[in-house]
Amino acid sequence: MAKKINDKITWVGKVDWELKSFHGNELSTRHGSSYNSYLIRDGKTVLIDTVWLPYDKEFVSRLKEEVDLSSIDCIVMNHNETDHSGALPELMREIPDTPIYCTKKGEAIIRGHYHQDWNFVNVKTGDKLELAGGTLTFIEAPMLHWPDTMFTYWSGDGGILFSNDGFGQHLASESLFDDEVDRDILFHEAEKYYANILNTYSPMVARKVKEILGMNLPLELICPSHGVIWRKEPVSIVEKYLQWADSYQEDQVTIVYDTMWQSTRKMAQAIACGIREAAPSTTVKLMNAAKDDKNDILTEVFHSKAVLVGSPTINFGVSYAIAGILEMVHGLRLKGKKAAAFGSYGWSGEGVKMMSESLSGAGLEVVDDGLRMLWVPDDAALKECVNWGRQFAEKI
Ligand code: FEO
Repeated sequence: MAKKINDKITWVGKVDWELKSFHGNELSTRHGSSYNSYLIRDGKTVLIDTVWLPYDKEFVSRLKEEVDLSSIDCIVMNHNETDHSGALPELMREIPDTPIYCTKKGEAIIRGHYHQDWNFVNVKTGDKLELAGGTLTFIEAPMLHWPDTMFTYWSGDGGILFSNDGFGQHLASESLFDDEVDRDILFHEAEKYYANILNTYSPMVARKVKEILGMNLPLELICPSHGVIWRKEPVSIVEKYLQWADSYQEDQVTIVYDTMWQSTRKMAQAIACGIREAAPSTTVKLMNAAKDDKNDILTEVFHSKAVLVGSPTINFGVSYAIAGILEMVHGLRLKGKKAAAFGSYGWSGEGVKMMSESLSGAGLEVVDDGLRMLWVPDDAALKECVNWGRQFAEKI
Protein backbone atom coordinates (compact mmCIF):
# COMPACT_ATOMS: atom_id res chain seq x y z
CA MET A 1 0.00 0.00 0.00
CA ALA A 2 1.28 3.51 -0.84
CA LYS A 3 2.40 5.66 2.11
CA LYS A 4 2.59 9.43 2.17
CA ILE A 5 5.96 10.93 3.13
CA ASN A 6 4.74 14.50 2.69
CA ASP A 7 2.29 16.39 0.47
CA LYS A 8 4.38 15.81 -2.63
CA ILE A 9 6.21 12.52 -2.05
CA THR A 10 4.63 9.10 -1.69
CA TRP A 11 6.38 5.78 -1.02
CA VAL A 12 5.15 3.22 -3.56
CA GLY A 13 7.63 0.39 -2.92
CA LYS A 14 7.38 -3.14 -1.60
CA VAL A 15 8.21 -4.41 1.90
CA ASP A 16 9.61 -7.94 1.66
CA TRP A 17 9.20 -9.46 5.11
CA GLU A 18 10.13 -12.96 4.04
CA LEU A 19 13.42 -12.23 2.28
CA LYS A 20 16.13 -14.43 3.82
CA SER A 21 18.95 -13.91 1.36
CA PHE A 22 19.97 -11.30 -1.17
CA HIS A 23 22.31 -11.29 -4.17
CA GLY A 24 21.36 -14.94 -4.62
CA ASN A 25 22.77 -16.46 -1.47
CA GLU A 26 25.70 -14.08 -1.09
CA LEU A 27 24.08 -11.97 1.64
CA SER A 28 21.84 -13.04 4.50
CA THR A 29 18.94 -10.76 5.41
CA ARG A 30 17.84 -11.46 8.98
CA HIS A 31 15.13 -8.80 9.04
CA GLY A 32 13.81 -8.98 5.48
CA SER A 33 14.14 -5.88 3.33
CA SER A 34 12.22 -3.45 1.19
CA TYR A 35 12.52 -2.16 -2.36
CA ASN A 36 11.69 1.51 -2.07
CA SER A 37 10.15 3.37 -4.95
CA TYR A 38 9.06 6.98 -4.61
CA LEU A 39 6.49 9.03 -6.47
CA ILE A 40 7.04 12.80 -6.62
CA ARG A 41 4.07 14.96 -7.59
CA ASP A 42 5.40 18.47 -7.84
CA GLY A 43 4.06 20.05 -11.03
CA LYS A 44 5.47 17.07 -12.90
CA THR A 45 4.98 13.46 -11.81
CA VAL A 46 8.25 11.58 -11.37
CA LEU A 47 8.74 7.97 -10.31
CA ILE A 48 12.06 7.14 -8.65
CA ASP A 49 13.16 3.50 -9.06
CA THR A 50 10.94 0.42 -9.17
CA VAL A 51 11.02 -2.90 -7.28
CA TRP A 52 12.38 -6.43 -7.61
CA LEU A 53 11.07 -8.60 -10.44
CA PRO A 54 8.91 -11.05 -8.38
CA TYR A 55 6.78 -8.11 -7.27
CA ASP A 56 6.48 -6.39 -10.67
CA LYS A 57 2.76 -7.02 -11.26
CA GLU A 58 1.84 -6.15 -7.68
CA PHE A 59 3.93 -2.96 -7.96
CA VAL A 60 2.31 -1.78 -11.19
CA SER A 61 -1.17 -2.67 -10.01
CA ARG A 62 -0.73 -0.74 -6.75
CA LEU A 63 0.88 2.16 -8.58
CA LYS A 64 -2.24 2.36 -10.75
CA GLU A 65 -4.34 2.75 -7.61
CA GLU A 66 -2.18 5.71 -6.61
CA VAL A 67 -1.70 7.50 -9.93
CA ASP A 68 -2.88 7.44 -13.52
CA LEU A 69 0.18 5.83 -15.14
CA SER A 70 -0.19 8.02 -18.23
CA SER A 71 0.38 11.07 -16.02
CA ILE A 72 3.91 9.94 -15.10
CA ASP A 73 6.21 12.41 -16.86
CA CYS A 74 9.41 10.48 -16.30
CA ILE A 75 11.04 7.62 -14.44
CA VAL A 76 14.35 8.20 -12.66
CA MET A 77 16.45 5.04 -12.33
CA ASN A 78 19.18 5.76 -9.79
CA HIS A 79 20.61 2.23 -10.12
CA ASN A 80 19.63 -0.68 -12.25
CA GLU A 81 20.39 -3.87 -10.39
CA THR A 82 17.37 -6.17 -10.68
CA ASP A 83 16.04 -5.36 -7.21
CA HIS A 84 15.30 -1.83 -8.44
CA SER A 85 14.78 -2.23 -12.17
CA GLY A 86 12.96 -5.59 -12.09
CA ALA A 87 9.51 -4.05 -12.51
CA LEU A 88 10.53 -1.75 -15.38
CA PRO A 89 9.41 -4.14 -18.18
CA GLU A 90 5.95 -4.56 -16.61
CA LEU A 91 5.65 -0.79 -16.13
CA MET A 92 6.98 0.07 -19.58
CA ARG A 93 4.42 -2.22 -21.20
CA GLU A 94 1.84 0.29 -19.90
CA ILE A 95 3.72 3.52 -20.63
CA PRO A 96 6.29 2.57 -23.32
CA ASP A 97 7.29 6.09 -24.34
CA THR A 98 7.92 7.51 -20.88
CA PRO A 99 11.45 8.94 -20.58
CA ILE A 100 13.82 7.01 -18.31
CA TYR A 101 16.40 9.31 -16.70
CA CYS A 102 19.59 7.44 -15.80
CA THR A 103 23.34 7.62 -16.22
CA LYS A 104 24.96 6.48 -19.47
CA LYS A 105 26.14 3.33 -17.66
CA GLY A 106 22.60 2.94 -16.34
CA GLU A 107 21.24 2.85 -19.88
CA ALA A 108 23.80 0.21 -20.84
CA ILE A 109 22.83 -1.92 -17.85
CA ILE A 110 19.08 -1.60 -18.53
CA ARG A 111 19.66 -2.50 -22.17
CA GLY A 112 21.86 -5.42 -21.09
CA HIS A 113 19.18 -6.72 -18.75
CA TYR A 114 15.94 -6.12 -20.68
CA HIS A 115 17.02 -5.65 -24.30
CA GLN A 116 14.52 -2.88 -24.99
CA ASP A 117 14.89 0.35 -26.91
CA TRP A 118 13.17 2.58 -24.39
CA ASN A 119 13.27 6.39 -24.32
CA PHE A 120 16.49 6.91 -22.35
CA VAL A 121 17.64 10.33 -21.18
CA ASN A 122 21.24 10.21 -19.96
CA VAL A 123 22.05 12.52 -17.06
CA LYS A 124 25.27 13.39 -15.29
CA THR A 125 26.27 15.23 -12.15
CA GLY A 126 24.72 18.70 -11.99
CA ASP A 127 21.99 18.06 -14.55
CA LYS A 128 18.65 19.33 -13.31
CA LEU A 129 14.97 18.80 -13.87
CA GLU A 130 12.82 21.73 -12.79
CA LEU A 131 9.61 20.83 -10.97
CA ALA A 132 7.12 23.27 -9.47
CA GLY A 133 8.19 23.49 -5.81
CA GLY A 134 11.70 22.15 -6.10
CA THR A 135 14.39 21.08 -8.54
CA LEU A 136 15.70 17.57 -9.08
CA THR A 137 19.50 17.47 -9.28
CA PHE A 138 21.31 14.34 -10.40
CA ILE A 139 24.60 13.35 -8.74
CA GLU A 140 26.56 10.47 -10.24
CA ALA A 141 27.91 8.09 -7.61
CA PRO A 142 29.80 5.44 -9.57
CA MET A 143 30.71 2.27 -7.65
CA LEU A 144 28.33 3.01 -4.79
CA HIS A 145 28.08 0.15 -5.51
CA TRP A 146 27.68 -0.37 -9.28
CA PRO A 147 29.10 1.74 -12.13
CA ASP A 148 25.67 3.15 -12.98
CA THR A 149 24.71 4.41 -9.52
CA MET A 150 23.54 7.97 -9.03
CA PHE A 151 21.75 9.93 -6.33
CA THR A 152 18.86 12.30 -7.00
CA TYR A 153 18.33 15.36 -4.81
CA TRP A 154 15.00 17.19 -4.62
CA SER A 155 15.28 20.72 -3.25
CA GLY A 156 11.64 21.03 -2.12
CA ASP A 157 10.37 20.70 1.46
CA GLY A 158 13.75 21.14 3.16
CA GLY A 159 15.66 18.88 0.77
CA ILE A 160 15.41 15.15 0.15
CA LEU A 161 18.22 12.90 -1.08
CA PHE A 162 17.14 9.76 -2.93
CA SER A 163 20.30 7.75 -2.39
CA ASN A 164 19.33 4.30 -3.69
CA ASP A 165 21.58 1.63 -2.09
CA GLY A 166 23.65 4.26 -0.26
CA PHE A 167 22.55 4.53 3.39
CA GLY A 168 20.30 1.49 2.86
CA GLN A 169 19.57 -1.33 5.28
CA HIS A 170 17.99 -4.71 4.74
CA LEU A 171 15.21 -4.09 7.21
CA ALA A 172 11.54 -4.77 6.63
CA SER A 173 9.28 -2.35 8.47
CA GLU A 174 5.71 -1.18 8.17
CA SER A 175 7.01 2.13 9.53
CA LEU A 176 8.62 4.41 7.01
CA PHE A 177 11.08 6.26 9.25
CA ASP A 178 14.22 5.54 11.27
CA ASP A 179 12.75 7.05 14.46
CA GLU A 180 9.97 4.46 14.39
CA VAL A 181 12.17 1.34 14.49
CA ASP A 182 14.63 -0.19 16.97
CA ARG A 183 17.74 1.96 16.64
CA ASP A 184 20.24 -0.78 17.57
CA ILE A 185 18.85 -3.14 14.94
CA LEU A 186 18.73 -0.29 12.42
CA PHE A 187 22.39 0.66 12.84
CA HIS A 188 23.48 -2.98 12.98
CA GLU A 189 21.69 -3.64 9.68
CA ALA A 190 23.11 -0.44 8.17
CA GLU A 191 26.62 -1.54 9.20
CA LYS A 192 26.10 -5.08 7.91
CA TYR A 193 24.90 -3.58 4.61
CA TYR A 194 27.93 -1.29 4.43
CA ALA A 195 30.42 -4.01 5.36
CA ASN A 196 29.12 -6.57 2.90
CA ILE A 197 28.05 -4.39 -0.03
CA LEU A 198 29.85 -1.06 0.06
CA ASN A 199 33.12 -1.49 1.94
CA THR A 200 34.95 -2.74 -1.15
CA TYR A 201 34.39 0.71 -2.63
CA SER A 202 35.17 2.76 0.49
CA PRO A 203 37.54 5.23 -1.24
CA MET A 204 34.72 6.19 -3.63
CA VAL A 205 32.23 6.32 -0.75
CA ALA A 206 34.43 8.72 1.22
CA ARG A 207 34.97 10.98 -1.81
CA LYS A 208 31.26 11.06 -2.70
CA VAL A 209 30.07 11.68 0.86
CA LYS A 210 32.54 14.53 1.28
CA GLU A 211 31.46 15.96 -2.09
CA ILE A 212 27.82 15.92 -1.04
CA LEU A 213 28.57 17.42 2.38
CA GLY A 214 30.60 20.10 0.59
CA MET A 215 27.54 21.06 -1.49
CA ASN A 216 25.88 22.24 1.76
CA LEU A 217 22.50 21.07 0.57
CA PRO A 218 19.64 21.41 3.01
CA LEU A 219 18.73 17.86 4.02
CA GLU A 220 15.47 16.96 5.69
CA LEU A 221 15.33 13.31 4.66
CA ILE A 222 17.54 10.64 3.13
CA CYS A 223 15.40 8.16 1.23
CA PRO A 224 17.35 5.00 0.40
CA SER A 225 16.12 2.15 -1.76
CA HIS A 226 16.19 -0.41 1.06
CA GLY A 227 14.91 -0.12 4.61
CA VAL A 228 13.67 2.96 6.40
CA ILE A 229 14.02 6.65 5.62
CA TRP A 230 16.54 8.66 7.65
CA ARG A 231 14.51 11.47 9.28
CA LYS A 232 16.00 11.85 12.75
CA GLU A 233 19.22 13.77 12.16
CA PRO A 234 19.86 12.28 8.71
CA VAL A 235 23.41 13.58 8.89
CA SER A 236 24.13 10.92 11.56
CA ILE A 237 24.17 8.11 8.98
CA VAL A 238 26.25 10.30 6.65
CA GLU A 239 28.83 10.76 9.42
CA LYS A 240 28.73 7.01 10.12
CA TYR A 241 29.53 6.38 6.47
CA LEU A 242 32.59 8.63 6.75
CA GLN A 243 33.77 6.55 9.74
CA TRP A 244 33.03 3.23 8.06
CA ALA A 245 34.82 4.32 4.89
CA ASP A 246 37.97 5.26 6.79
CA SER A 247 39.61 1.94 7.83
CA TYR A 248 36.92 1.50 10.45
CA GLN A 249 37.65 -0.52 13.56
CA GLU A 250 36.51 -0.88 17.16
CA ASP A 251 38.50 -2.35 20.04
CA GLN A 252 37.51 -5.88 19.09
CA VAL A 253 39.24 -9.09 18.01
CA THR A 254 37.22 -11.64 16.07
CA ILE A 255 38.39 -15.24 16.04
CA VAL A 256 36.96 -17.16 13.11
CA TYR A 257 37.64 -20.87 13.14
CA ASP A 258 36.48 -24.23 11.91
CA THR A 259 37.14 -27.54 13.59
CA MET A 260 36.91 -31.25 12.75
CA TRP A 261 37.56 -33.04 16.07
CA GLN A 262 37.56 -30.02 18.42
CA SER A 263 41.33 -29.43 18.51
CA THR A 264 41.18 -26.11 16.61
CA ARG A 265 38.11 -25.07 18.66
CA LYS A 266 40.06 -25.70 21.89
CA MET A 267 42.92 -23.64 20.50
CA ALA A 268 40.52 -20.80 19.61
CA GLN A 269 39.04 -20.69 23.09
CA ALA A 270 42.44 -20.77 24.80
CA ILE A 271 43.72 -18.00 22.51
CA ALA A 272 40.63 -15.93 23.38
CA CYS A 273 41.46 -16.32 27.10
CA GLY A 274 44.98 -15.08 26.44
CA ILE A 275 43.75 -12.00 24.57
CA ARG A 276 41.32 -11.17 27.39
CA GLU A 277 44.07 -11.56 29.99
CA ALA A 278 46.36 -9.18 28.16
CA ALA A 279 43.65 -6.74 27.06
CA PRO A 280 40.67 -6.90 29.45
CA SER A 281 38.80 -4.07 27.77
CA THR A 282 39.02 -5.58 24.30
CA THR A 283 35.90 -7.35 23.03
CA VAL A 284 36.72 -10.86 21.85
CA LYS A 285 34.25 -12.76 19.68
CA LEU A 286 34.52 -16.36 18.53
CA MET A 287 32.68 -17.49 15.44
CA ASN A 288 32.55 -20.92 13.87
CA ALA A 289 32.82 -20.40 10.12
CA ALA A 290 30.83 -23.56 9.40
CA LYS A 291 27.99 -22.75 11.82
CA ASP A 292 27.70 -18.98 12.01
CA ASP A 293 26.30 -16.87 9.20
CA LYS A 294 29.03 -15.82 6.77
CA ASN A 295 27.81 -12.23 6.50
CA ASP A 296 27.53 -11.85 10.28
CA ILE A 297 31.13 -13.06 10.43
CA LEU A 298 32.21 -10.49 7.82
CA THR A 299 30.37 -7.77 9.72
CA GLU A 300 32.24 -8.66 12.91
CA VAL A 301 35.53 -8.76 11.02
CA PHE A 302 34.74 -5.31 9.56
CA HIS A 303 34.01 -4.09 13.12
CA SER A 304 37.33 -5.41 14.51
CA LYS A 305 40.86 -4.11 14.75
CA ALA A 306 42.25 -7.63 14.35
CA VAL A 307 41.15 -11.03 13.17
CA LEU A 308 42.44 -14.51 13.92
CA VAL A 309 41.61 -17.32 11.53
CA GLY A 310 41.88 -20.97 12.53
CA SER A 311 41.47 -24.22 10.65
CA PRO A 312 42.83 -27.71 10.89
CA THR A 313 44.92 -28.75 7.92
CA ILE A 314 42.66 -30.87 5.71
CA ASN A 315 43.85 -32.61 2.54
CA PHE A 316 46.85 -30.27 2.24
CA GLY A 317 44.63 -27.21 2.64
CA VAL A 318 42.07 -25.63 4.95
CA SER A 319 38.40 -26.29 5.64
CA TYR A 320 35.74 -25.44 3.07
CA ALA A 321 34.11 -22.89 5.41
CA ILE A 322 37.38 -21.10 6.21
CA ALA A 323 38.37 -21.04 2.55
CA GLY A 324 35.01 -19.38 1.79
CA ILE A 325 35.42 -16.78 4.51
CA LEU A 326 38.94 -15.96 3.36
CA GLU A 327 37.68 -15.51 -0.20
CA MET A 328 34.99 -13.11 1.03
CA VAL A 329 37.46 -11.21 3.24
CA HIS A 330 39.67 -10.82 0.18
CA GLY A 331 36.80 -9.17 -1.71
CA LEU A 332 36.08 -6.62 1.04
CA ARG A 333 39.45 -4.86 0.66
CA LEU A 334 39.69 -4.20 4.39
CA LYS A 335 42.28 -1.69 5.53
CA GLY A 336 44.22 -1.20 8.76
CA LYS A 337 43.47 -4.58 10.31
CA LYS A 338 45.95 -6.96 11.91
CA ALA A 339 45.73 -10.72 11.65
CA ALA A 340 47.27 -14.13 12.29
CA ALA A 341 46.36 -17.78 11.75
CA PHE A 342 46.32 -20.92 13.85
CA GLY A 343 45.21 -24.53 13.61
CA SER A 344 45.76 -28.16 14.45
CA TYR A 345 47.28 -30.74 12.15
CA GLY A 346 48.19 -34.40 11.96
CA TRP A 347 50.87 -34.67 9.29
CA SER A 348 51.46 -32.17 6.47
CA GLY A 349 50.31 -29.11 8.48
CA GLU A 350 50.49 -26.40 5.81
CA GLY A 351 47.07 -24.92 6.65
CA VAL A 352 48.40 -22.17 8.93
CA LYS A 353 50.91 -20.96 6.35
CA MET A 354 48.22 -20.96 3.66
CA MET A 355 45.80 -18.94 5.82
CA SER A 356 48.56 -16.45 6.69
CA GLU A 357 49.33 -15.96 3.01
CA SER A 358 45.66 -15.56 2.21
CA LEU A 359 45.19 -12.94 4.96
CA SER A 360 48.24 -11.06 3.76
CA GLY A 361 46.97 -11.22 0.16
CA ALA A 362 43.67 -9.76 1.35
CA GLY A 363 45.47 -6.68 2.67
CA LEU A 364 45.58 -7.52 6.37
CA GLU A 365 48.81 -7.06 8.29
CA VAL A 366 49.88 -10.51 9.47
CA VAL A 367 51.73 -9.84 12.74
CA ASP A 368 52.73 -13.40 13.65
CA ASP A 369 53.89 -16.50 11.78
CA GLY A 370 50.97 -18.42 13.25
CA LEU A 371 50.45 -21.21 15.75
CA ARG A 372 50.25 -24.91 14.87
CA MET A 373 49.41 -27.76 17.22
CA LEU A 374 50.03 -31.43 16.42
CA TRP A 375 47.00 -33.69 17.05
CA VAL A 376 44.95 -32.89 20.16
CA PRO A 377 46.28 -30.08 22.38
CA ASP A 378 46.97 -31.19 25.99
CA ASP A 379 47.10 -28.85 29.00
CA ALA A 380 50.60 -27.70 28.17
CA ALA A 381 49.64 -27.02 24.56
CA LEU A 382 46.58 -25.06 25.64
CA LYS A 383 48.75 -22.95 27.94
CA GLU A 384 50.89 -22.24 24.91
CA CYS A 385 47.73 -21.11 23.10
CA VAL A 386 46.82 -18.78 25.98
CA ASN A 387 50.30 -17.36 25.90
CA TRP A 388 50.14 -16.92 22.11
CA GLY A 389 46.83 -15.07 22.49
CA ARG A 390 48.45 -12.82 25.10
CA GLN A 391 51.34 -12.04 22.76
CA PHE A 392 48.96 -11.40 19.86
CA ALA A 393 47.03 -8.88 21.98
CA GLU A 394 50.27 -7.05 22.64
CA LYS A 395 51.03 -6.82 18.91
CA ILE A 396 47.76 -5.20 17.86
FE1 FEO B 1 19.72 -2.59 -4.10
FE2 FEO B 1 22.54 -2.62 -5.85
O1 FEO B 1 20.76 -2.95 -5.58
